Amino acid sequence: MTMRLIAGAAALLLNAGSALAQTPDAAPLSGKDQFEATCSACHQVTGLGIPGAFPALAGNVFLQGDERAVVSTVLNGRGGMPTFKADLSDAQIAAILTYVRSAWGNKAAPVAPATVAAVRAQLAPPKPAGLQAH
Ligand code: HEC
Repeated sequence: MTMRLIAGAAALLLNAGSALAQTPDAAPLSGKDQFEATCSACHQVTGLGIPGAFPALAGNVFLQGDERAVVSTVLNGRGGMPTFKADLSDAQIAAILTYVRSAWGNKAAPVAPATVAAVRAQLAPPKPAGLQAH
C-alpha cells in the first residue's frame, strides 16, 4: 500500500513537471494531450490506473456507459478524484472524455461540448425563486 501511494505521488510530481514545460503559444491540445496533462498522473498514460489507488479507465464499464454520469464525475470529482469544474472548459472535458472513451480498446460514443454544458447547468445551484432584486 505504501509503495502504491509513493508511486502515485511520484506520478503526480512528474506530471506537474511536464505541464509546466508546455509553452504558452503551443497549438491547442488534443483530447489525448489534455488527458496526459490532466488525468494521467493518476489514471496513467496507459489508462490502466494504479490498482488499489486509481481505477483503470481502459475497459472501464462506467466510463463507457451513460455519458452524463461520466461528465458529472469529472465536473464534481468523487472520492479521491478532484473536481475539475473550475479548471476545464466544456470543450476540454468533451475532448478528454471523447479520447478516453475510445482509447485503449474502449468503444463508446464521443461526448459533445453541449452535453457537458447541459450537465454543468444542471449541477449549478438553483437560482432562488421569488427573490428578485427591485
Ligand atoms: C488525483 C488523482 C486523479 C486525477 C488527476 C483524476 N482522477 Fe479520475 N479518479 C481518481 C480516483 C481516486 C477515482 C475513484 C473515485 C472513487 O473511488 O469513487 C477516479 C475515478 C474516475 C472515474 C470513474 C471510474 C469508475 O469506474 O467509476 C472516471 C471516469 C475518471 N476518474 C476520469 C478522470 C478524468 C477524465 C480525469 C482528468 C480530467 C481524471 N479522472 C483525473 C483519481 C484521479
